This record gives sequence, C-alpha cells and structure tokens, in this order.
Amino acid sequence: MASEKPLVLITGGSGYLGQFLVQALAKANFQVDLVSGEGLQQCINELAPLVGVINTAAMSSPGACEKDSDTAREEEAGNPVNVYGKTKLEAEQVIQERWPNHVILRSSIIYGPQSPTPVARPLFLQFVARQLAEGTPTSFFNDEFRNPVFVDDIVRVVLKLLEPGTALSGRVYNMGGPERLSRVDMAVKVAEAWGYSPNAIISAPSSSVNRGVASPADISMTSQKLEQELDLTLTTFSDALAEIG
Ligand SMILES: NC(=O)c1ccc[n+]([C@@H]2O[C@H](COP(=O)([O-])OP(=O)(O)OC[C@H]3O[C@@H](n4cnc5c(N)ncnc54)[C@H](OP(=O)(O)O)[C@@H]3O)[C@@H](O)[C@H]2O)c1
Repeated sequence: MASEKPLVLITGGSGYLGQFLVQALAKANFQVDLVSGEGLQQCINELAPLVGVINTAAMSSPGACEKDSDTAREEEAGNPVNVYGKTKLEAEQVIQERWPNHVILRSSIIYGPQSPTPVARPLFLQFVARQLAEGTPTSFFNDEFRNPVFVDDIVRVVLKLLEPGTALSGRVYNMGGPERLSRVDMAVKVAEAWGYSPNAIISAPSSSVNRGVASPADISMTSQKLEQELDLTLTTFSDALAEIG
C-alpha cells in the first residue's frame, strides 16, 4: 500500500466487492471469522492504528439467511421483508449505537467485471452475458425493480469517504446507480451494449419462480444525497457496460 493511503481494515476481502476494495487499498491479508471472532483481535493488533473499518462481509445470499437466521443475525427506517434485510437493519442499528464515526452505504445490486478471483456465487451480469452469448432462452423478472450500481462507483465512493478532508460521519446513504431497472431491462441493455441478440430474453413475473425467500418488488432508490454530498456522479448502466466491455 502506498504510504499516503489510509490504514483501513476491509472485511469480506475475498468477496466480490471486497476484492475490488482490496485492489484499491491492499496491504495484508488475515483470516478472520466474524461470527466466532476468531482471528479478529490479532488482525486489529497488527494493523493498529486503524483509520477505519470497511465492512463488506456478509451472508450475502438472502436464501442462505432465510435457512440459517441465527448465523445471519450474528453479524433509517427500513422495511425488510426477509432475514437478510432484517439483519442488515439490525447491523446498521448496532453501528449507529456504538460507533458515531460511521457511514452506512445501502447498496443495490452490485455489478462489474469478473472479480480478480472468481467468487463462488453467480454474478448477474456475467450470467446474463453467458445466456445471451449461448442464445439460451432465459426468464428475467419484469416486475422487480433495482438500481444496479457499478462496483467501480462503490470503490470511488469509499476512497472519497476516506479522504482526510471528508467529514461525513453518522450518515446513511443510498448507494444505487442512476436508473431504476427490472432484470429484463438489464438483460436488454446488456444485449444492446455487447451486441447480442435479445431473442433469448423471456420477460417473466417474479411469481413464476419459487425462490424460497421473499424478495422486495421495488427497492429502487435515489442516491442524489450521496452524489451531492460527495460531489460525484454515479455511472449509468450503459456507460458502465461500455467501460467493462
Ligand atoms: N452483490 C450485490 O449485488 C449486493 C447487493 C446489495 C448489498 N450487498 C452487500 O454488499 C456487501 C458485499 O457484497 P458482495 O457481493 O461482495 O458479497 P460476497 O461476494 O458474498 O462476499 C461476502 C464476503 O463476506 C465474507 N464472510 C461471510 N461470512 C463471514 C464470516 N463469518 N466471517 C468473515 N467473513 C465472512 C465472505 O468470506 P468467505 O468467502 O471466506 O466466506 C466474503 O468475503 C455485503 O454486505 C452484501 O450483503 C451486495
């Protein structure tokens, strides 16, 4: 790590978002279990004095949280519809009560290039591209709305929050891209941007699949507050697709 970069602890460094943050800020790796606490004290001792902690670690699969709600739990007004969302809200409350100097980013679906080390779970963008490239007819939901956010934008936001002059503690920000899109919308934009035929895209309601876990129909969000207070512009889905290539 270059000496001018702040010393921060990134949890979830092996995950999708964590890998990009590690790339931007990395110095050393530690094995820590955040449920049992194993390895955490040694990690903090060796990294002291820390400027901050970037917590990206999570049971990030809503289905897994639903099946193992006790483990999921061990990690602004919200209206969570499943265990994943409830534990996210609980974690926010713990952070707000215990660490006044915090910023919480409420992320929408994160997309971007394949991570340096592929993660075990499927990535939506790469899944779409593969299905379209193969011409495999695939159903995409037309009635669930999200604001997909480019992983590079999250890294940009985090780096900006770490700048010495940035004094934005105690904030909760929406961290979603500028467009409200359904999965069908996203798939169509991928086809347009990367030159695939859209013929394999089947528009379907979310009720056509039993995922075993409730999923909110519309968690579209505006991230204007974040853009204004950090003085940056978040990338549109199409611009990001052009960049990812
Ligand atoms: N990806 C999205 O579209 C999306 C959307 C909204 C919110 N988010 C949130 O954004 C954050 C980052 O997401 P992501 O996509 O990068 O998730 P991810 O790829 O699933 O990575 C999760 C990370 O958490 C670590 N982890 C899980 N349990 C742990 C434990 N008990 N102790 C230590 N580490 C543990 C995992 O480590 P191992 O690999 O060792 O298990 C992994 O590094 C998460 O909080 C997620 O809920 C993601």
